[in-house]
Amino acid sequence: MRIVSGMRPTGKLHLGHYLGVLKNWIDLQKENECFFFVADWHALSTSYEDKLNLKNLSKELVKDWIAAGIDPDKSTIFIQSNIKEHSELYVILNMITPLGWLERNPTYKDQLQQLQEKGGKDIRTGGFLTYPVLQTADIILYDANKVPIGEDQRPHLEIAREIVRRFHHLFDCEIFTEPQELLSPTPRLLGLDGRKMSKSYNNAIYLTDTKDEIWQKLRVAKTDPQRVRKTDPGDPQKCLVFDYHKAFSDEETIKKVEEGCKNATIGCIECKKWCLESIEKVLEPMREKRATLNDEYIDNIINEGNQKAKDIASKKMQKVNEAVFEIKCSID
Ligand code: TRP
Ligand code: SF4
Repeated sequence: MRIVSGMRPTGKLHLGHYLGVLKNWIDLQKENECFFFVADWHALSTSYEDKLNLKNLSKELVKDWIAAGIDPDKSTIFIQSNIKEHSELYVILNMITPLGWLERNPTYKDQLQQLQEKGGKDIRTGGFLTYPVLQTADIILYDANKVPIGEDQRPHLEIAREIVRRFHHLFDCEIFTEPQELLSPTPRLLGLDGRKMSKSYNNAIYLTDTKDEIWQKLRVAKTDPQRVRKTDPGDPQKCLVFDYHKAFSDEETIKKVEEGCKNATIGCIECKKWCLESIEKVLEPMREKRATLNDEYIDNIINEGNQKAKDIASKKMQKVNEAVFEIKCSID
C-alpha cells in the first residue's frame, strides 16, 4: 500500500508527536511504500508572520524523523516546496473546490477561533482557508491509498475525497486514487500540567531534551492530589505520570506503580524516577543517533527523496493537464 503523510516544520518535536505520529510512521514503513514530507508551505498558513527559518526548521525536522527511526532506505523523505507540482495541482484544485466545503470545515472554524482568541494573529487568508486543498494535492499527486493522520485532520481527508470525485466528474476521467484515513492507534498524551502538550505552555518533553532537562520537568509534574504524603494512598488513574508510564514503561513497572501507588508503598519521586528511566529507554538512542547525523547527510537524503517524489509527481501532473486542457469534446 502507498502511504503519504506530512508534518509542518514549526519547531522541535515532543513526546506527543512521537507517540501520536512518528511511532505510527515507523511501524508503517516496514510493510508499505511510504512518502513522508515536510509541509513547509502549510507551515506558512498559520505562521507567515513569525519569521521562521523554514529551511533550517525543515532540516531539523528530518533529523528528528531519522533519529526516531524513519529509515531513508525504506521511506521517501522530501520537502513539499521543492516539488513545484504540489502548487500546480493546488491551483487547479482551487478552481473546482466550492467555498462552502472549506468554510464548513470544522478544523478551519476551530483554529480560526482559537488563534484569534490567543492574541490577534490574523489568519483570515486565502492560504489558510484553502489549507485542505493543498493537503489534497499533497496526497493525490502520489496516489496514496492510506494517509496516517490525527483525529483533527479527518475533515481534511473527507474534503480530499470529495475533491477527487468532483475532479473525475468534471473532467470525465479516473486518474486519482481516493485516499483513506489511517487514524493513529495511540491515545493522545497530555502535557505535564494536564493541558494539551504545547510549546506555548512549556509542558512538553522534547525528543532532544537531555536526561536532566526531562527530570526537571517530571519532578514538578502534577500527581494525584490525594497523595500529599507518602503514606497517603493514591489512584494512578488520576495521575498524569501514570499516563506516561502506560506509554513508556514495561508491564512489570506499570504493575509495580499501580500497586505501590494504591497501597502507599512507593513515593511519587520514586515513581517519577522509574518513569524517567522508561522515557530514557526511548529517547537516549534517539539522541545518540541524532548526534551522528550531519547536515551533508541530511541534504543527501532530502535530495534523493525529492528526486523520487518529483518523478512521480510530474508524471501525475502530465495526466492532470491532459485531463483539464485537452478535453475530448464529444461534438468534434
Ligand atoms: N495538515 C497536516 C497536519 O497539520 C500536515 C499535512 C500537510 C499532511 N499535508 C498533508 C498530513 C498530507 C497528511 C497528508 O498535521
Ligand atoms: Fe502518580 Fe506515581 Fe505518585 Fe501514584 S505514585 S500519584 S502514579 S506519581
